[in-house]
Amino acid sequence: MEHQQSEAIYRRALEVLPGGISRNTIFRKPFPNYVEAARGCKITDVEGVTRIDFANNMASLIHGHSFQPVVEAVTEQITKGTAYTMASAIEVAYAELLCHRVPGFDKIRFMNSGTEAVMAMIKAARAFTGRPKIAKAEGAYHGTYDYAEVSQTAAPANWGSIDHPNSTPVVQGTPQGVLNDVVVFPFNDIERTLAILDRQAGEIACVLVDPVPHRVGLLQAHSEFIEALYHWTRKNGALLVFDEVVTFRVHYTGAQEKYPIRPDLTALGKIIGGGFPVGALAGHADVMQMLDPRESPLRFPHSGTFSANPVTMTAGFVAMSHFDQEAVLKINAITQKAKDQIAEAAALAGVPLSITGAGSMFRMHFRSTPPQTYREAYQPKERAAVMNAFIDHLYYQGKILTTNTCSCMFSTAITQTEVDQLTEAMLNGFRALKGEILAAANE
Ligand SMILES: Cc1ncc(COP(=O)(O)O)c(C=O)c1O
Repeated sequence: MEHQQSEAIYRRALEVLPGGISRNTIFRKPFPNYVEAARGCKITDVEGVTRIDFANNMASLIHGHSFQPVVEAVTEQITKGTAYTMASAIEVAYAELLCHRVPGFDKIRFMNSGTEAVMAMIKAARAFTGRPKIAKAEGAYHGTYDYAEVSQTAAPANWGSIDHPNSTPVVQGTPQGVLNDVVVFPFNDIERTLAILDRQAGEIACVLVDPVPHRVGLLQAHSEFIEALYHWTRKNGALLVFDEVVTFRVHYTGAQEKYPIRPDLTALGKIIGGGFPVGALAGHADVMQMLDPRESPLRFPHSGTFSANPVTMTAGFVAMSHFDQEAVLKINAITQKAKDQIAEAAALAGVPLSITGAGSMFRMHFRSTPPQTYREAYQPKERAAVMNAFIDHLYYQGKILTTNTCSCMFSTAITQTEVDQLTEAMLNGFRALKGEILAAANE
């Protein structure tokens, strides 16, 4: 039996972990396969099956697994200690690297996850403006802070009018006060968004945007939309803050590079940890001053036991030093090549396909034109089932690992050979599931 060992581990897991897992993203029916080892773009499970990894721990491994320069640097650091109740020089060197890299990163504070970075960003905006509310796009995922997750799973049954989207809870028991303090707008819809924001002007501390939000459909924010938000925030005394936890990989200075304006604050995570848990808040000196412990009164006291630990700082420093201008252009070019080949494969198989995304990441939709909004990208159960069957086909038959939305997040370890294998697996999947794909596309 191919999956006997994983099944046995999963049976044990069910006894001690809710649903047998520690993060819902890796859940797979009937059970997940357990990893034995991973290197570069290959990941091998305990059954000895090797897959090509296009998920890269949900976009966080920019150089793939066990990147040798990181392994060497971290191995050396571990012999000198892993976390201290003292500062370490590597956090300063890494802060210099990121602040010198990105215009508008005057100061940076390191922390332990993207969730924490978004939470700190919201708190800094509240402390700076003295206002309670935030505004965010319907459907956008920003981690699991109560306020940031509002309306992330909005569905036809509860999302309300597009002119005035409801603030919907993700977790049962979310306090009404949290919902009241989150203003929800439709992504990329300038007119409606400004009308919604105007109704709460004076109470909004920040407008929170992910420039290429995955759960909205991996759609890129239009430049006009970002500019409109920027000007609205200038006029109304609010901050414009970006969640670049995922999108920092898209260009050398993040997705923000392609817009004519700079956000006041940026939340970071994923790739800047070099494979280790990380988060960071970066931005303009006047807002970052909220965190300065020399201030009196200190408006935003912030700590974290493992923040800026030397292992993460070392790994991040090495990983990001290697992710230079040339590496960014190269990874984006090979990702574009993959998108072109997959589009050709879909045409060959006769299935409708559109591909959204930016830089080194893309997401597939079984429809001939790309969705323009969260509500258009939203997958009712039947359509989601077809996508899940396709993901499973890639995983079991094609030996390809994608994310659970069928998006691919490239690493610099991926070459043309893996792109060709991905394309072939996709073509086989399109052919095997053509009937189901066509039926779902017509709904
Ligand atoms: C856009 C975005 N923001 C924030 C987060 C939260 O990051 P973390 O999982 O490190 O808490 C994620 C995680 O996937 C994300 O995609």
